[in-house]
Amino acid sequence: MIIEDLRDHLMKRFDFLLGSLYIKETETCVLSDIHIGLEEELLAQGLVFPLREKEELLRRIEIILAKLNPKRFVLAGDVVHSFGRADQRIRRKLDAILNTIRSRCDLVLISGTHDGMLPYMGFTAQSRYDEGGYTVSHGDEDLRDHGHLIMGHEHPVLDVEMMRIPCYLFGRGPMDGMDIMVLPAFNPLCQGVAVNHLEAPDLLSPLLRRLDIGKLHPVVEMEGEVMVFPEIRHL
Ligand SMILES: [Fe+2]
Repeated sequence: MIIEDLRDHLMKRFDFLLGSLYIKETETCVLSDIHIGLEEELLAQGLVFPLREKEELLRRIEIILAKLNPKRFVLAGDVVHSFGRADQRIRRKLDAILNTIRSRCDLVLISGTHDGMLPYMGFTAQSRYDEGGYTVSHGDEDLRDHGHLIMGHEHPVLDVEMMRIPCYLFGRGPMDGMDIMVLPAFNPLCQGVAVNHLEAPDLLSPLLRRLDIGKLHPVVEMEGEVMVFPEIRHL
């Protein structure tokens, strides 16, 4: 499929905005890897200036809610960064972000590798969400009985002249005939994995190890402009 046709195809099905993916057919917005509290970890490691994580995450979520007006938000895992005890500051951040979403639409939480603390914080997370032929999963577990897959976990970025640009990865039909869409990490503090310098063994996700990642197309959204790139192996 030539790039222009692929872009048209994607734009008919989805909106791409600030790291979120809106599925038009189901009016569902998916985002992954918010990693709430990554700021606190970086500060604990010696970073000396505040990163305004909460303000930036809320700013982005408010824009997504206003522009896309989804029926529901699915957070595809790694909602909280901390593996251990989440302190009050992180708890307040989590509440502010989830309450902002819940005040406007339904909210579904998917558990990721970092989310062991969610049940102890009073939140119920499920392993996957299926609707309208799509399956949202974090991507850390192998699945076979899925629809078109939407996942996070990998934190893909494109490395362009040492600039690391968060990107989506799309493949049409490589998962037993189903499509795959990998979302970038929503938290801009996440470092990311440069997919254009990647060997298959470097991949975290067992789902991605099943396919030839070189055949996936990076998609970048910047200031409302959506760019679909050639397959990774041609970059
Ligand atoms: Fe993550």
